[in-house]
Amino acid sequence: MEPTSLSKRAQNLKTSPTLFLVAKAKDLQAKGHDVISLTVGEPDWPTYPVAALAGHEAIEKGLTKYTPASGTIELKKSIVSRLKLDLGFDYATSEVAVTSGAKFAIFAALQVLCDPKDEVIIHSPYWVSYPTMAELADAVPVIVTCHEDSNFKITPIQLRKALNEKTKVFLFCSPSNPTGFIYSKEELKALAEVLKDFPRVHIISDDMYNRLMFDGARCAPHILEMAPELRSRTIIINGGSKAYSMTGWRIGWAIGPKQIIQAIGDYASQSTGAPSSISQHAVIPALDHGEPNIKETNQTLKARLSAALKEFKSIAEFKVFEPQGAFYLWIEVKNVLGRNYEGKKVETSKDFCEILLEKFFVAVVPGEEFGNPGYMRVSFAIGTERMIEAIGRMNSLVGQLK
Ligand SMILES: Cc1ncc(COP(=O)(O)O)c(C=O)c1O
Repeated sequence: MEPTSLSKRAQNLKTSPTLFLVAKAKDLQAKGHDVISLTVGEPDWPTYPVAALAGHEAIEKGLTKYTPASGTIELKKSIVSRLKLDLGFDYATSEVAVTSGAKFAIFAALQVLCDPKDEVIIHSPYWVSYPTMAELADAVPVIVTCHEDSNFKITPIQLRKALNEKTKVFLFCSPSNPTGFIYSKEELKALAEVLKDFPRVHIISDDMYNRLMFDGARCAPHILEMAPELRSRTIIINGGSKAYSMTGWRIGWAIGPKQIIQAIGDYASQSTGAPSSISQHAVIPALDHGEPNIKETNQTLKARLSAALKEFKSIAEFKVFEPQGAFYLWIEVKNVLGRNYEGKKVETSKDFCEILLEKFFVAVVPGEEFGNPGYMRVSFAIGTERMIEAIGRMNSLVGQLK
């Protein structure tokens, strides 16, 4: 074998599995197949007009130069106002760092918080990037596997068991990607009680989907509502990608204690540099005036969800968990494992999803990628007609299993 010139870090780096699947689906599409992709965590509706117009305006007005590395003061003002309206929290603009996507905000937070061998508690099913991000910070991801009995959420007992003197970060997401489950106020309070006994531990609360809710609430409950005393060690993550359908604009942010936020800004200044000036300008009106759009989005998602849930009833072998927020369906497929497809045994959820893509041209993400084999994640950020067609193809595959 040829000697590699790649660093150990690069050799250990895993390609983002969802992006890999998207590429495979595109490849099949290029070969002329009618592929339905339910993989990617991306809204299928356009960026809201208020934001798109502001993007044009930024170009026309020449707002096309470097901004401060941690973002413009105008955007920071909109971010803190939004947070105040949504959750009632009071933050100063100096406690906000704007980054090139929320992914980089989480990445940078882990970089500035973790020393080698520090532990980062992540519970599965997790968002695919969390463990690798912890590893890239030379930290050790400690995965706590969660099950159906707690709606795939970490319990206070599990959290206490995982915490120790090496723990530096507890990283979690509500509503969850991939399950769509939300931590209730009581659950957050109970987790906060445990965290109070471990003062070294920082909390990264990934709130990326907290405006996409199906019960009519404005926003998902937050750990800092239940335990404001954790504020000095909590970093709030959010961004424009999901609720505002601005994935390609690449704007995220971290909000938290000044010292940590300053470090995230410094880290960004030496790596990505400032986030796009045009995108920053576009996010401001989305935050200030996007409420009617978010309301409409939630109504659309709710209607799509109920249509999908109804259709999935036709596949008795699947156990579909009804999400409370975000735009994913988490589905147990254990009942179909062990059966054969064209003489080949379908042993794992990964096998099942591979056949679904290669033979039925429906792309979904197997549970293995989220740390919970036996499941799959199906995005319903897609028109109902295509969704129903995709579920029909899943049904055909299940029907052909022997
Ligand atoms: C749970 C979660 N957090 C953070 C992000 C990052 O979003 P972005 O980098 O597009 O702002 C995503 C995107 O898929 C996500 O699902």
